[in-house]
Amino acid sequence: MDEWGPEKVVCVSDRRTGMRGVLVLDNTARGMGKGGTRMSPDLRVLEVARLARAMTWKWAAVDLFHGGAKAGILGDPNSPDKERILRAFARALSNEVPGEYVFGLDMGLNETDAAIFLDELGDRGAAVGLPRALGGLPYDELGVTGYGVAEATDAAAQSIGMTVAGARVALQGFGAVGLATARRLAELGAVVVAVSTARGAVLDPDGLNIPRLAELRAVHGDDCVLEYGGAVDTDTVLTADADILIPAAREDVIDKDRAGTTSVRLIVEGANLPTTPAARDVLHQRGIALVPDFIANAGGIVAAAHSMDARYSPFTVDPDDVFPMISTKMRANAATVLAESARHDVPAHYAAQLLAQERVREAMRLRGQYNPGR
Ligand SMILES: NC(=O)c1ccc[n+]([C@@H]2O[C@H](COP(=O)([O-])OP(=O)(O)OC[C@H]3O[C@@H](n4cnc5c(N)ncnc54)[C@H](O)[C@@H]3O)[C@@H](O)[C@H]2O)c1
Repeated sequence: MDEWGPEKVVCVSDRRTGMRGVLVLDNTARGMGKGGTRMSPDLRVLEVARLARAMTWKWAAVDLFHGGAKAGILGDPNSPDKERILRAFARALSNEVPGEYVFGLDMGLNETDAAIFLDELGDRGAAVGLPRALGGLPYDELGVTGYGVAEATDAAAQSIGMTVAGARVALQGFGAVGLATARRLAELGAVVVAVSTARGAVLDPDGLNIPRLAELRAVHGDDCVLEYGGAVDTDTVLTADADILIPAAREDVIDKDRAGTTSVRLIVEGANLPTTPAARDVLHQRGIALVPDFIANAGGIVAAAHSMDARYSPFTVDPDDVFPMISTKMRANAATVLAESARHDVPAHYAAQLLAQERVREAMRLRGQYNPGR
C-alpha cells in the first residue's frame, strides 16, 4: 500500500469448491474500479494488486473516468470444475459486485465465463465481455485494440514528421491485435513489409498481401506464415528493414541490444511490456520515438468503457460509436505523450506515467484525499 492505494483488498474462499480468489480495488478517485478478471494456477495477490495499479494509470492516461481494479481466481482455467468455481467466486463477491466492481475478461476467462458471472448474481450489470447473444461486444473479432494501435501509429508518425502512407512497417504477432493493426495500417496506406507469428516470419520489401495472410490465418492460425510461403526465422521481423516497428506479441522482445541497433524511427507497443526499461532509455537517447503500451493498446478499454455504460440498456453497443472514440483518444494521447517526452526530455513511458499520476492526484485532491504528508 502506498499513497495511491489499494483502497480495498478482498480475499475470498469456498470450502465446497476449493475456490480461492481476490479482488483488488486500487484507486477509485476518478471513478469506479474496473479491470479484468483472470484465472491462473499460480495467481498471487501481489500480481493482482500490480495489475490493478496498472489499470489506475491506464484509465487516467486515456482520460476515462474509471478507477483501477482487478480480480483473480487461483486455479486451472481448464478444470472441469471451472463453472462451479466461477459461481462460488461471484457469490463470495456479491457485496462488491456490481456496486464497486464489475467482472471482466483477462487471462484464463472467456465470454462464456462472463455469462456465468451474470447468471450467478442475477444481474446484467455484474459482468462485461459478454457473448453477443447476451448483448456483448466481440472486442477481438472487431479488432478494437489493433485499430487503436494503428491510429496511434498514424498520429505518432505525424508528430515526428513522417507519414504512415508509404511508410514501411514490421509487425511482430498476427493475433487479435496484430491482424487488426495490419488491416487498419494497410487502409491508411502503410506498406507492411514484415509479419511474424510464433511459427515464423514473412517479409516482402514491396509489401505483404495482408488480406491473403488474414485468410490463411483464419484457416491455419499461426501457421499462416508457413502457408504464405518463404517463411524465415520468427525474430527476423525485429531486424527487418522498416521505418516503423510494432511489437504485438510478447513481452521483453526489445532489449537494450535490439534498441541499440534498430534502424526504425518509430516503435509502437501493441503488446504489453514489449520493451525492457533499459531498452526504453536507449531508444530515448537514440531519438527513436516510442509510443508506450498503455497509450497505444488502450482501444480495448475504450470499448470496455462503452460496455460498462451499456450494461443495463436494452440496446447493444454500436461499433460506430466505439471506433471514432478510439481513433480520437488514441491519436490525441499518442501525440501528447510524444510531445511531453520531448518537452521534458524523458522516455515516453515516464512522460505517460507522469501525465496519468497528475490526473489521479488532482482527482484525489479535489475529493480531499490527497495528503502527501501522511
Ligand atoms: N486482445 C486485446 O484486446 C489486447 C489489449 C491490450 C493488450 N493486448 C496485448 O497484446 C499482445 C497480443 O495479444 P493478442 O490478443 O493479439 O494475442 P493473440 O494470442 O491473439 O496473438 C498473439 C500473436 O503473437 C504471436 N506470437 C507469440 N509468440 C511470438 C513470438 N515469439 N514471435 C512472434 N510472434 C509471436 C502468436 O503467434 C500470435 O500471432 C499481448 O501482449 C496482449 O497482452 C491485447
